[in-house]
Amino acid sequence: MNYQNLLITTQDAISTITINRPKKLNALNSATIQELHHAFEHCNTDPQTRVILLLGSGDKAFVAGADIKEFADFSEEKGRELAQKGQELLFDFVANLETPVIALINGFALGGGLELAMAAHFRIASDTAKMGLPEVSLGVIPGYGGTQRLPQLIGKGRAMEMIMTGGMIDASQAMEYGLVNHVVTLDELVDCAKGIASKIIKNSPNAIGQAIGAINAGFEDGIDGFQKEINAFGHCFGTPDFIEGTTAFLEKRKANF
Ligand code: CAA
Repeated sequence: MNYQNLLITTQDAISTITINRPKKLNALNSATIQELHHAFEHCNTDPQTRVILLLGSGDKAFVAGADIKEFADFSEEKGRELAQKGQELLFDFVANLETPVIALINGFALGGGLELAMAAHFRIASDTAKMGLPEVSLGVIPGYGGTQRLPQLIGKGRAMEMIMTGGMIDASQAMEYGLVNHVVTLDELVDCAKGIASKIIKNSPNAIGQAIGAINAGFEDGIDGFQKEINAFGHCFGTPDFIEGTTAFLEKRKANF
């Protein structure tokens, strides 16, 4: 696909997807959401890709939210459709990918931008990052999973306060809340993510995909996460990765996945 709003590179089994609308602070219009869906699907099935890094272009924003211009005149029905389609195509899609996705929050991550970062499997922020869900200031609520994923990550009370005030928190507050795993300088952000990615790549991609599914199951209504774990654990025993991992251990060598 010829991307208009994304840049994609792959090196050393790490694919980097950069949302590239810096003049609009990388706001998510529908074309960008479509392109992101395609890019994530492509990277997830690409045998050369073992970890996906997601960031925003420029040094000001990760993503400043859904594109407000696009939905300013929407009806109730179109609003519902916007949220449903966006969640299916991008936010739930990313959260459920088997390939690990790390969001690199390099500036503003607001509204749909923070929701996208929260859909990733974990987050690293630069010390310049600012995060918030300001939707109530526009007369709407977060529609791309924010009311669900923010309390899962930081707890109900803190999520209530952030969503009701619509305010922004800085990187150190986000770290204290557990919203991001690491805070580094902007210059160190990509290297920090690549360092973590290189540790992930040493492990079984199949087992990692199964672990993501089992962890996510614990946050899904009507699904028994413990049962999902039992099934995923059993599934691993039938894979070449399991044979390689256990054989390498017994032969006192490093596994080659
Ligand atoms: N949608 C569309 N355009 C946006 C945008 C957004 N979410 N955020 C920024 N832009 C555009 C601005 O309109 C501006 O474009 P022009 O130069 O053509 O006017 C450009 O990006 C630069 O932005 P600013 O001039 O506003 O930059 P600033 O440094 O003064 O302010 C900011 C930065 C505080 C992030 C401010 O841009 C802002 O508040 N943006 C909106 C944040 C927001 O409300 N996000 C939530 C969106 S709703 C949502 O996401 C719904 C959902 O959950 C589904």
